Amino acid sequence: MIDRSTVDRILDAVRIEEVVSDFVTLKKHGPNYVGLCPFHPDKNPSMSVSSTKGIFKCFSCGKAGNAVGFVMEHEHMTYPEALRYLAAKYHIEIKEKEESPEEIAHRMKYDSLLAVSEYAQKYYQDILWNNPNGRAIGLSYFHERQFTDETIRKFGLGYAANRPFTLAGDARGKGYKAEYLVDSGLCIQRDNGELADRFYDRVMFPIYSVSGRVIAFGGRTLRNDKTIAKYVNSPQTEIYDKSRSLYGLFQAKGAIAKADKCILVEGYADVISMHQSGICNVVASSGTSLTVEQIRLIKRFTNNITVIYDGDEPGIKAALRGTDLILEEGLNVKVVLLPPEDDPDSFAKAHSCDEVLDYIAQQECDFVTFKSDVLAKRMGTDPIAKARLINDIIKTISVIPDSILRSVYVETVAERFSQNPDNIFQKIAEMRGKKLEQDRNQRQRTEVATEVPPPPEDEYLPADELPPVVDEGPVSADDYAITNMYLAVQERELVYYLLKFGSSIMHFEDTIDGPAQEPVRVDDYIRDNLGYDEIVMDNRLYREMYDDYFAFTAGLDVSGVERQERIVRHFTTHPVQQIVNQAIDYLTDDYPVTVKAFLESLEPEENKLAYLVPKSVTLYKSRITEQRCLNLAKMINRAENEGDSGKVKELIRELNMLNQVKLFFAKELNRL
Ligand code: CTP
Ligand code: MN
Repeated sequence: MIDRSTVDRILDAVRIEEVVSDFVTLKKHGPNYVGLCPFHPDKNPSMSVSSTKGIFKCFSCGKAGNAVGFVMEHEHMTYPEALRYLAAKYHIEIKEKEESPEEIAHRMKYDSLLAVSEYAQKYYQDILWNNPNGRAIGLSYFHERQFTDETIRKFGLGYAANRPFTLAGDARGKGYKAEYLVDSGLCIQRDNGELADRFYDRVMFPIYSVSGRVIAFGGRTLRNDKTIAKYVNSPQTEIYDKSRSLYGLFQAKGAIAKADKCILVEGYADVISMHQSGICNVVASSGTSLTVEQIRLIKRFTNNITVIYDGDEPGIKAALRGTDLILEEGLNVKVVLLPPEDDPDSFAKAHSCDEVLDYIAQQECDFVTFKSDVLAKRMGTDPIAKARLINDIIKTISVIPDSILRSVYVETVAERFSQNPDNIFQKIAEMRGKKLEQDRNQRQRTEVATEVPPPPEDEYLPADELPPVVDEGPVSADDYAITNMYLAVQERELVYYLLKFGSSIMHFEDTIDGPAQEPVRVDDYIRDNLGYDEIVMDNRLYREMYDDYFAFTAGLDVSGVERQERIVRHFTTHPVQQIVNQAIDYLTDDYPVTVKAFLESLEPEENKLAYLVPKSVTLYKSRITEQRCLNLAKMINRAENEGDSGKVKELIRELNMLNQVKLFFAKELNRL
């Protein structure tokens, strides 16, 4: 941990133009600098660097951030790594945060587990190359699989022998503690206290962290005995969480960023053979079904994933499950199926690099094509089955966060199944509306409940088990989409006021209704007003920024300009890139404030805060009311269908009340 004051000293010392120009040639351009953007193929300089604001922004690809963000992005570093890099560049000594005894103990344990894993990797590797058994059994096995010596070294492969060459014995002799051998998963403590190796008589595949530390192992048996597990893997440990690691990522990350694409395969051998054939942007989720965390790991390097799975049944199932999850995380996914008798390992061996690349380029298909090809084949010509398949595909499209990508897929489905695209858009809007509502309910529920229910198992449902889409009532999906959009616009606007003017004081004027209210700080005003109605923002990003804002400012003991500068710095150096992007947009863009449309004045926003902020808050509340009215209308319709007239009456009373509230806000907005 780097303590806060050191972080501040680093940020104070850093000059963004100096940091960027270590990688990019910059030219002075007015008060700023410009250069070729290193994050996309750039012919004309489209990246602008502002030394006064301390930020860079590419006006072509949209990448933006401060010096720390630039280093993180360019060098694929984590936040602390980038800070250390900058500290070294500016000769700033890093003062580590004072750790508590528990933290020290935890860090020491963590380091010890890494050390013992590193030792084990060397031990297995040494046996593979230098022990006669290791060479005769392990090395010749890898050679049989046509792995070259270079490849074997690149992946740090090894061999775990049988007695008497046990890791446990060797490690104890070298002074490694039994506790760490057990807790790293390398050894198992028998009931009689004796230490036994977890891995023996297996070839060893070390698993590396993104930064290249050995954190776990997979061991493959060389026997064809079906009663022996083909792979034994390290258990979950303090240094290894299999759902958060990807086999081969350390070796592949540079190639992934360069190709702007990650190829995802199933097994260790697949990764290694692909690398050996010259295709290095390949990783494997090794044995687990793909997780959200793994996808986010890939997202640090690219937004494009191509899944290459075996052409057999389990391969197809895994591919289907994976694509949905990848799409939901907002990445682009393509699928390549190999001939049923092949896996990437055998395929890469039987073909040249160019042949493999050609095959991928030709076979790569988007998920709509993939799903419809694969599933259509299974269900034949049954029209009901076909309708369900379409529904299933639409359901997947509806979880894609990006609306443009969604519409591309809608066109694909419409064409492929001769459907009217409008109907598909309509259905998707309904599904998204329903999902939003569910999320909101879920949130409300989890906010009161202390125990969070486990997320539903993310298993792929066969198309014919999906419930048909039911028509929910008189509220059209478009109404929903529109009110949701309005809500988000208002939420963004409020966060904008916080980041830009949160510390300013609003002075109100007397009105005909009475004397002016007391002066109040912008952020206090917003919080008090939303808090009064217990409003929680709907959009996740804005909610996070809003909460973060108040958590951060609670600890601030300065005021005015200095306070606001701290706030801006907090958000432009935020570890969450999306938040940094938002913050920078607020500071650089000519942000189209909706309320501004009401204004003809050219007076700077700052002088109008006492007018703009209350208006923005009121508009937001009126949008929320509109949305609640829509929800009520839907509930009334449902109650009517269920014949529950008592409930209908109750809901209508509520709706009438809400309509009064709507009217009130309309008047307020006119008055303001
Ligand atoms: N796997 C595992 N445990 C098993 C079987 C498989 O952890 N009992 C994981 C391994 O990470 C393996 C991947 O699933 O690499 C894919 O399995 P499979 O295709 O059976 O193994 P391959 O790596 O292709 O092994 P090989 O080609 O050596 O048979
Ligand atoms: Mn295989």
